[in-house]
Amino acid sequence: MKILFIGDIYNELGQKSFDKYFAQVKNQYKPNFIIVNGENIEKTNGLSEKIYKEYLSLGVNVFTLGNHAFSRKDFQEVLDLPYVVRPANYGKNTPGKEFVEIKYNDKKIAIINLIGRVFMHDQTDNPFTKVDELLEKIASDYIIVDFHAEATSEKYAMAYYLDGRVDAVIGTHTHVPTADNIVLPKGTLYISDVGMTGAKYGIIGGNVEQGIRKFITGMPERVKPETESILQFNAVLLDLYNRKIERINIFE
Ligand SMILES: [Fe+2]
Ligand SMILES: [Fe+2]
Repeated sequence: MKILFIGDIYNELGQKSFDKYFAQVKNQYKPNFIIVNGENIEKTNGLSEKIYKEYLSLGVNVFTLGNHAFSRKDFQEVLDLPYVVRPANYGKNTPGKEFVEIKYNDKKIAIINLIGRVFMHDQTDNPFTKVDELLEKIASDYIIVDFHAEATSEKYAMAYYLDGRVDAVIGTHTHVPTADNIVLPKGTLYISDVGMTGAKYGIIGGNVEQGIRKFITGMPERVKPETESILQFNAVLLDLYNRKIERINIFE
């Protein structure tokens, strides 16, 4: 079982990079199953039904989200789509699904999305105790966790906490790919961050000028996405049978 996991596709240039590289990567690595972090995929951040349908028709199987899960007006409808999962540790009455289970031939794959609490702004529940709760309910053949978090310490703690209990813990959110892909002692595949798909020149996908100005003035400012840049495409290939995790980093 080979799973391709594509890191945060960020806004317009993220879609452009996906359009440019997805088919090539898919042909080269021949994954059985494809997961995309789609929390920033639209211009407004968040995921839309239009993109969902389009990407599913191209072979994507499921979308994970993050802190931008609720950014669009139509978030409720999008969260109700069958192959969309939002971070499980938002509050009890939050719309959307805490995990999705998808059949692949005679196997079942569960995808869990969790959000971190270190340097993150939303008042979420404890992701460690939440994932314990979920793992009691899930009886899939394979379990993949997207841990959408800022701090590598929290990500490593989650990775070791879940080692041997899930097949992979994949970090998203920082938009910067790390080089620490590892097979943990009990067999779980891990990377701190897959990295983003979108502008190569930018401040984690945002406009450079605004991104710098914000730090100089200290004034709050909504940084617009970078719209003119060469591209990057970041993903990992999880080989669950051979217990391997390979980075795929395309930088123009
Ligand atoms: Fe993101
Ligand atoms: Fe995020």
